[in-house]
Amino acid sequence: MAIRKILNYTEPILRKKTKKVEEFDSELHELLDDMAETLAKANGAGLAAPQVGVLKAVCIIDVGDIFYEFINPQITEHSTSTNVHDEGCLSVLGKNGKSVFYPVERFNKVTVEAYNRHGEKFKVKLKGFPARAAQHEIDHLNGIIFLDHVTDFTVKK
Ligand code: CO
Repeated sequence: MAIRKILNYTEPILRKKTKKVEEFDSELHELLDDMAETLAKANGAGLAAPQVGVLKAVCIIDVGDIFYEFINPQITEHSTSTNVHDEGCLSVLGKNGKSVFYPVERFNKVTVEAYNRHGEKFKVKLKGFPARAAQHEIDHLNGIIFLDHVTDFTVKK
C-alpha cells in the first residue's frame, strides 16, 4: 500500500467524467488499498479516484463504522427530502492547508448500486452523513465538485 498525492480541484482531471472499470484485477485492488490508506491519513470521509489522478469510476467512503468501496456506482433511488449541511473536500483546501467548508443541499437518503472489488454487484441504502458522503464522491466521478452546489459562499468557515 502507498499514500497517493491528493490533487487540488483546479487540476483538469477533477473536471472529467471517469471511465467505467471493466477489469477487477490487482491494479484495481492496489488503487483501492492506496485510496483507503490515503483517506485514512488525510482523516477524510471519502475519496474518489480522480482525486489521486486516476480517471476511473471508483470511490470510497469512510464514515464512522461505515466503509464502502464503490466501483461504477449509480444512485438509483433517492428521497425527495433534502438537508443542508457544511461540506468539505480533500481537494478544496484553504490557505491554511485545511479543507474549507460550505453548506450544500443533499438528499437525505440514497440507494447506491455499485460493484465491489471482485466485480460483484451490490446495493446499499444510506441516510444522513454517509448518504451525503456518497453523493459527494459519486459527483467526483462525473467531474462535479461540491463547490458547484454551493449557493451561499458567505458562510465559509
Ligand atoms: Co471531494
